[in-house]
Amino acid sequence: MAYTRAAAFAPATVANLGVGFDVLGLALCEPGDVVIAERRDTPGAAVRLIENDGGILPYEAKKNTACVAAESALRLIGAPSGVWLTIQKGLPSASGLGSSAASAVAAAVAVNALFGEPVERAELLGACLDGEAVASGYHPDNVAPALLGGITLATGLTPAQVHRIPVPDRLHLALVTPNVAVPTAEARAVLPKLVALKAMVTQTAAIAYLLHTIYEQDIVAMGAAMERDGIIEPARAHLMPRLDEARRAAKAAGAYGLVISGAGPSLVAICDDAQQASTVAEALRHVYDTSGIGCTAFATRVSEQGARVISSE
Ligand code: HSE
Repeated sequence: MAYTRAAAFAPATVANLGVGFDVLGLALCEPGDVVIAERRDTPGAAVRLIENDGGILPYEAKKNTACVAAESALRLIGAPSGVWLTIQKGLPSASGLGSSAASAVAAAVAVNALFGEPVERAELLGACLDGEAVASGYHPDNVAPALLGGITLATGLTPAQVHRIPVPDRLHLALVTPNVAVPTAEARAVLPKLVALKAMVTQTAAIAYLLHTIYEQDIVAMGAAMERDGIIEPARAHLMPRLDEARRAAKAAGAYGLVISGAGPSLVAICDDAQQASTVAEALRHVYDTSGIGCTAFATRVSEQGARVISSE
């Protein structure tokens, strides 16, 4: 069954989980982006309207992550017509919450819904990656959890190379997004091109140990394991205002660990109950509000569902 209009939501995501650079990620319950796809007679995708982006996102089809993902999804499903897109941003750009991935995923899911869901959700991964690549290159650590939900390990770029990791029952998260923009390209440019063998061994052990803690549902150890990143955070720390202070404040409020979310500047703290996560979010808010930077802070959980179709009519 095909429709004339379909809307989809895709959530914010936390990429890397500290030590898992470009391979681990998780989906948040909220916030997220909504994309509405409407049929148009002309082939291909075009942007009708972008809402709540502060006027910074491009309308040009080739430069817009949602539009590129929609084009790719249209090709994948062999769609008989094109689409207009309305993009409702719930996520700030350059914040480390997977904003470009959320738009790309919501667009691909909306396009698939518009034509009666001819392909399985996971098969949309390539289209979502095409969209994400416009903003920050081909890495699936935001796109995969936004599309599929939960915690994901991506060992490559195909659906068969994305693995769902069981989400610990008691996992709660506190997040803060300081009011500074850190473009992903800038945060990637500061990374080392080569790492020493010793650093590689330490990082390999850390990511393996992190996965072990997740499977063991040991949230205390998980928080500590995420912080064992000896390569990415040291190279990026200077781009993240008040990182050390935020980590100290989060831990004093009960968190088990705090790392940069994706390419930053958002930070994510690991907690094991809702009250604790709220307290940690407030402690993080205090750090940025009292320093004059300002921020958005909130407590949430992992979304097992990821993207969802909101309506099709
Ligand atoms: N893994 C990516 C990074 C996420 O840290 O650069 C940002 O898109």
